[in-house]
Amino acid sequence: MKFSYFLPTKLTFGFGTVEGVKAETKGLRSTRALVVTDKVMMKTGTVQKVTHGLDVPFEVFDEVEAEPKIEVAEGVADKVRSKSYDLVIGVGGGSSMDMAKVAAGFATNKGTARSFVGNDLFAKKPVASIMVPTTAGTGAELTVTSMVTVDGHKQWINSPLLLPSVAVVDPVLTMTMPPGVTAATGMDALCHNTEAYLSSLANPITDSAALEGIALIVKDLQKAFESANDRPARESMSLGALLGGIALQAKMVYGHSIGYTIATRFKLAHGVSCGLPLPYIISNYAVACAPKMKKLAEAYGVEPATEPHELGREVAEKARSIAAALKIPTTLKEIGVAESDLGMLADECLGMYPRPNSPLVFDGKSMTELYRRMWEGNLEA
Ligand SMILES: [Fe+2]
Repeated sequence: MKFSYFLPTKLTFGFGTVEGVKAETKGLRSTRALVVTDKVMMKTGTVQKVTHGLDVPFEVFDEVEAEPKIEVAEGVADKVRSKSYDLVIGVGGGSSMDMAKVAAGFATNKGTARSFVGNDLFAKKPVASIMVPTTAGTGAELTVTSMVTVDGHKQWINSPLLLPSVAVVDPVLTMTMPPGVTAATGMDALCHNTEAYLSSLANPITDSAALEGIALIVKDLQKAFESANDRPARESMSLGALLGGIALQAKMVYGHSIGYTIATRFKLAHGVSCGLPLPYIISNYAVACAPKMKKLAEAYGVEPATEPHELGREVAEKARSIAAALKIPTTLKEIGVAESDLGMLADECLGMYPRPNSPLVFDGKSMTELYRRMWEGNLEA
């Protein structure tokens, strides 16, 4: 066995930790900070909670939108280069944190935002950054990736240099999320943990994080969805999401790729677009990942059957029942995908979002079959 794991981010977790942001800015010797967020976070007073009592002068960029287009990233680049900011604080869900991460990179690197789309394109170390998630889903506070929509397609800006300096994960900030956002972001976290667990790049660190993350989410996502003020459930979800961020160093399999092909076309929240394929991915990968299925079943709270195919089917049923209880669509037919487009979507999935780390190799025919099963709601791989 050989693996490496790199996580330079200082992590602080728990109720009340948001009050420690001030101390973190001091520790980073910041002289001027840029807060990157969205208008809802300003309106709800969440940004004010984070910046309360900060000694360092700061300004706010609040123009981040959900599923940000590359134009938003260009705006962030202009803003962060307009003064000598030496710290970026991201406050919000994945979109705000992703834009904060790239802002830290743009502060020290020349070039349009578009020129950084791809892998490892930052030459210089970014300025310091602090991430403060307000959802329990993306794990973006601990990942190397920032997602951007370029010309209608999901793309990414990836670099290990984008790993934040500090992540402050306070479950109290997630308690104002409406139920629909709790459901979608929670499903996203379940997908990160599950897909990373199924990846051929998984290692004992990512597996431990993923299995614990899945168990926490399966136990408490429904409770957090039904009751915003359930503190233990909110704590489980915040922890499950950040464990997903840790697991993501194993990368994901084809569930997220499928999600990218339907998210923009059908205007689905990210967690809905990747939550829909999840049960089908589990049943498809069960045989390829046979030695790992028993532990996956335990994490999902499923009585383990003896045979991998059957086991995959049972875990997939459980994943589908979780999604259905959260009112997340579970078939492509439901969201309006035309039967005649299944082949085109399968081709886009393989062409634009390949997964060399998938233990299951697809060709156009087998990927179209997977899309057909998702269209029909057939979990039988
Ligand atoms: Fe995701």
